[in-house]
Amino acid sequence: MNGRGGVRNLPFDPHGMIFYHLCRADDAPKYLEDGMARSDGRHYVFDRWEDIRVLIAALDAAVSAEPEYVVLVLDLDADMLAIGPIARRRLPPGISPEDVERLQRHSRYPEVDVSAPRIVDVKNAVGDSVRAHFAPREYRRAPVWRFLSYVRPYWRYVAVATAAGLVKFLVPLVFPWMLRVLLDDVVLKRGIDPNVRERTTLYLVLGVLALNLLWMGATYLRSVYAAVAGHRMIRDLRVALFDHVQRLSHSFFLRHQTGAIVSRVVSDISLAQNFVGSALTNVWMDSALLLALIIILFSIHPMMALVSLSLMPIYVLSLRYIGPKIRLSTREVQQRLEVLSGGLHEKVAGVSVVKGFARETQEAQLFATHANKLLNKVLYSVRYTAANEMVVGFVVHSAPVLVVWYGVTQIIAGRMTVGELTQFLLYLGMFYFPLQRLSDLSVVLSNSLAAIDRVFEYFDTQPHVVERPDARSLPDCLGAIMFEHVTFGYEPDNPVLRDVDLTIAPGENVALVGPSGAGKTTFANLVPRFYDPSAGRLLLDGEDLRDLELASLRRHIGIVSQETILFSGTVQENLLLAKPDAGAEEIEAALEAANAREFVEELPEGLWTEIGERGAVLSGGQRQRLALARAFLKNPRILLLDEATSALDSRAERRIQQALARLLKGRTSIVIAHRLSTILNADRIVVLEAGRIVDLGRHAELLARGGLYAQLYHEQFHHVREEQT
Ligand SMILES: Nc1ncnc2c1ncn2[C@@H]1O[C@H](COP(=O)(O)OP(=O)(O)OP(=O)(O)O)[C@@H](O)[C@H]1O
Ligand SMILES: [Mg+2]
Repeated sequence: MNGRGGVRNLPFDPHGMIFYHLCRADDAPKYLEDGMARSDGRHYVFDRWEDIRVLIAALDAAVSAEPEYVVLVLDLDADMLAIGPIARRRLPPGISPEDVERLQRHSRYPEVDVSAPRIVDVKNAVGDSVRAHFAPREYRRAPVWRFLSYVRPYWRYVAVATAAGLVKFLVPLVFPWMLRVLLDDVVLKRGIDPNVRERTTLYLVLGVLALNLLWMGATYLRSVYAAVAGHRMIRDLRVALFDHVQRLSHSFFLRHQTGAIVSRVVSDISLAQNFVGSALTNVWMDSALLLALIIILFSIHPMMALVSLSLMPIYVLSLRYIGPKIRLSTREVQQRLEVLSGGLHEKVAGVSVVKGFARETQEAQLFATHANKLLNKVLYSVRYTAANEMVVGFVVHSAPVLVVWYGVTQIIAGRMTVGELTQFLLYLGMFYFPLQRLSDLSVVLSNSLAAIDRVFEYFDTQPHVVERPDARSLPDCLGAIMFEHVTFGYEPDNPVLRDVDLTIAPGENVALVGPSGAGKTTFANLVPRFYDPSAGRLLLDGEDLRDLELASLRRHIGIVSQETILFSGTVQENLLLAKPDAGAEEIEAALEAANAREFVEELPEGLWTEIGERGAVLSGGQRQRLALARAFLKNPRILLLDEATSALDSRAERRIQQALARLLKGRTSIVIAHRLSTILNADRIVVLEAGRIVDLGRHAELLARGGLYAQLYHEQFHHVREEQT
């Protein structure tokens, strides 16, 4: 395969295989119910029970191994898995090096989400099934009902569409009746007055034509109203989903790829739309029509009706066995699509890295592999859909043959008229239409339900940081920040900040220094409540942050991060994010204070110059100054600043230093310092090491004390002094 040209097809039928996954017994119910999400991290699987036995033996030998373990038995397609050696730390201690090597050679992990139906059994250490111990957990509201709650505002449209649909489908029922009357009572009957014949024919035809006018109106209303209800509802759902997703915690966005999120909000929701667009109205109409037809068929000729329904069991079986497969395969198509979109987004956003390492060819191959796997999943789902169509088609086309066979014998025996048989066949033809539609519908329904499940997975994700219902707003703020014995970790048993105790007075400028990974960014992120501490608390002006409204808290905090994020739009629009109602003078003043006015004026269209998603036309230093201007415009009491590490030339550096000095003046600030000037001007310097405050004071004192600060100073800052002075 070459990077640009032909893409080789993968073997079409990657057979299902059995894999084993060892997990804590406590985690099993969650997996059995929700499947295994790739956002949880890599779930390593093995295809040989011997490997699992080695793991279990090692766990048994380890004395400290308290938690109980079970083995999930997974039925996976080989192409769902990526090859990757399991981390040594995930293996229990005491495994021989040869075993470790062998386990690492055999371990794989799913690169897509694994849906719950893929977990076919749960085994204990000796290989007996213990699935029965994991009874399904308590009843959870099925997503489809929750989905329907979004239809409620538009029930009037759905009602009109359904009523119009009934008319649309019931009107054609008149035609076979008319034909029977014409055949049996007009054409084939002897001894009728020709005038009566002509008049009867005319009235019947005119009557049916009039009904067809009604049918026209109903058809139009049905399509339009069903579409209006469907699209409005999808709009609501999409807006609600976006609103929900962007309120989720930072950790959600670290675990999920941007492209994968986009895929759910855009592609899954479109799929769900079919549910309202066709399913919701058709189900009722078709059911009503079927009922009407069954009554008609039985009233015409009960025996023949039975003959015509004799093939129905095949249809029902197909619905039962193929339906769930369609639903699973559609879900897996969407899961694959998500992997593809996620990767695509990353690689497009990081295209300079791809080019920098000259990886275009490999990336193209990787993309082709993913596209191939998607294709395979799509073909799977196509096969199930086709199988369903095939079975239903057989029923639809064979039943009339049986009926004709039976009918003809009846006519020959003189027990039935030609008109009656014709009428029956026409009604039977109508009977299988809605049946076929209902079966198509079951496919649409399966697809939509799969998508709806995935959409509601996001709705069920709750932010970790939640606002209390009785949270107070904080109209004014002095800016006194207090860390009270704060301990925090991203994972429960791995604290990143330990027992941090610090009081920052209003207006104080605190510089944060420490080795990389000490927890500086984490420290700063606790102030706007991006995360909540696991122990201890943070206070703003004496109030626990958790008692405050989030929006109100964050209104007082300005954040300037290491990398300036600008959205596509004009310079002005980017500035107005900080304060939507800022006037022209305010913007001018903010730019002036940030030393940015000069370069903005030199842009081709000044403030109205369009900048790319990341401000592509601006230099690093210019972007930093725009970020500072944004902070000036917001004018917060508290400023959190992660100084950019990128070195600027001395003129640009001086401009930024001036702007910073202006910005910090009179505000409480926490600055993660990378500039010499910042630590020299700070009121206090906090030295963090491995999540603890190890020293505290002004530059001269700290330097005199020696220790970590002196060391950091010489490593990180001292050489800067030489460059800058
Ligand atoms: N989202 C996260 N999930 C899990 N662990 C994290 C996360 N963010 C940071 N960590 C871990 O927390 C520790 C502290 O990280 P932090 O980003 O606060 O360090 P830092 O002092 O800002 O480092 P640097 O100077 O390199 O920016 C590190 O060990 C890091 O691996
Ligand atoms: Mg950091």
